[in-house]
Amino acid sequence: MCGIVAYIGQRDAHEVIIKGLKRLEYRGYDSAGIAVFNGGLNVYKKKGKVADLEAHVEGVALSSKIGIGHTRWATHGEPNDVNAHPHLSGSGKLAMIHNGIIENYASLKKDLISKGHVFESDTDSEVMIHFIEDIWENEGCSLEEAVRLALNKIIGAYAIAIISKDNPNQLIAARKGSPLVIGVGEKEFFLASDATPIVEYTNEVVYLNDLEIAVIENGELKIKTNEDTALTPYIQTLDINLEAIEKGGYEHFMLKEIFEQPKSISDCMRGRVNSQNGTVKLGGIYEYKNKLLSAERIIILACGTSWHAGLVAEYFFEEYCRIPVEVEYASEFRYRKPVIKEGDVVIVISQSGETADSLAAIELAKSKGAIIFGVCNAVGSSIARMSHEGAYTHAGPEIGVASTKAFTAQLTVLSMIAMMVAHEKGNITVSRFHELLTELETIPQKIEKALELNDEIKVISEIFKDARNFLYLGRGYNFPVALEGALKLKEISYIHAEGYPAAEMKHGPIALIDEEMPVVFIATRDSSYDKVVSNIQEVKARKGRVIAVVTEGDALIPKMAEFVIEVPATDEALMPLVSVIPLQLLAYHIAVLRGCNVDQPRNLAKSVTVE
Ligand code: G6P
Repeated sequence: MCGIVAYIGQRDAHEVIIKGLKRLEYRGYDSAGIAVFNGGLNVYKKKGKVADLEAHVEGVALSSKIGIGHTRWATHGEPNDVNAHPHLSGSGKLAMIHNGIIENYASLKKDLISKGHVFESDTDSEVMIHFIEDIWENEGCSLEEAVRLALNKIIGAYAIAIISKDNPNQLIAARKGSPLVIGVGEKEFFLASDATPIVEYTNEVVYLNDLEIAVIENGELKIKTNEDTALTPYIQTLDINLEAIEKGGYEHFMLKEIFEQPKSISDCMRGRVNSQNGTVKLGGIYEYKNKLLSAERIIILACGTSWHAGLVAEYFFEEYCRIPVEVEYASEFRYRKPVIKEGDVVIVISQSGETADSLAAIELAKSKGAIIFGVCNAVGSSIARMSHEGAYTHAGPEIGVASTKAFTAQLTVLSMIAMMVAHEKGNITVSRFHELLTELETIPQKIEKALELNDEIKVISEIFKDARNFLYLGRGYNFPVALEGALKLKEISYIHAEGYPAAEMKHGPIALIDEEMPVVFIATRDSSYDKVVSNIQEVKARKGRVIAVVTEGDALIPKMAEFVIEVPATDEALMPLVSVIPLQLLAYHIAVLRGCNVDQPRNLAKSVTVE
């Protein structure tokens, strides 16, 4: 959460920063601010979006060759002008932006207050910059050294950038637990929480690692560890282009990303699946592949939508690989003293690759000797780098806060892994393996077909846009799809929605059903079809309003449901890739009709880098 951008070079820093903050706004959008050298070190900040900050500084001469900017997702202190970043040190000589949480801020603050420091905001970040300055003044050392000494006493997560009144040619940055990418140009440098603000200027980047400090001065980048060891910056080349991070004619990023799914899934499979030769090759899984093949159990760790992808994978791995799977919320796993044995296999799923709980959970599993396979979308992200091996989802940057194309790409990668394991272990026949591969290759066309339902779903959305509650029900592989459908709706439309296994409805949710309750059934033709049909009858008998996602040509359910949405048939194990599409569209249209900010829903952030 929170997006940070900084610049040093010959361009107008404020232009680079404002543009960059807009690209990072998906990370937080309750307030924004910028600090530049325009005749002195000045800070401008405003509650609201980056556009509000822009309006606030209209007419102010902001021209500067160095600057730092921030878009905030509040943790400590309500979203207002004062709590917005950048924060100044006590003397006003230092300005800092921070993404993360300082856990020992209360004790540091107490000490600093006793030394006479006065704080303006309620944030942990302001404490951090006061603390740095306090060391700087008392030790009489360089600023760089003061930052290093301070960071060694700070507990928590941070990605920071600091500029100082005394030296307008120097930018200092550091990270621990929150992402920070440095774009390397011709005698200019860009710093950001991810590469999207950087990509239009340079494709050469350095990913700062945890416990590293970067000092950029006089056109040179130096990196050292928190223990004062100098390192050689490792420059990598970015593989994203500008179109991938723009709306491309769509009204919202979310809609663009929903419609991109046939392509993102094809990209995800490219060079990996070949049904003609009967192969699945995942380049990132080789050295530890045997661990996966011989695993006695698999633990899947994830949060949010990625956790739902993990639940689908559980069905797949258990059915086809015959390996027991536990799917865990990373946030629970990390604190509940889980039993992890040397050689246990952990699959961590994360779009951003930066989710704090997922990171901490794999750190724990790794420390106990588990082998970590990462399924991440963001290339070079912390989770990707921390995993032993893994497979990228290659869905391209996902900007809409509600995850769509990353989810289906995760399902694709997880299916490929499961098929590979099942085949190599000899758990499935060669013909069944070929059948699954061939079917997987048809998924992009089937999604294309499901996307043609857009107008039909818009009509259904009009009818239900004022509902106060929604129930989503499914069984088997479609149960996690019910959870995902409900999550999409509540995230972006603020309608209360619950996903349940259809049979569990009788143990509680059925009490909620009356003539006002829309119930979305994911009722495609599969092994639990007949059971789901009975569940639909139970809802009908209580006058619930049934919207059913069914397989094309279904003759029975259309007689019972008020609305049916027909999706192309596919293998039961792959159906979530198709059946989730109408649910994404339903949530999208309802949210738009309710006037909600679809790409930046209230209180949410795309990348949750705080626990
Ligand atoms: C946030 C996002 C969700 C995402 C979840 C996990 O809540 O808004 O869309 O599913 O984090 O994120 P990850 O990047 O680890 O998949």
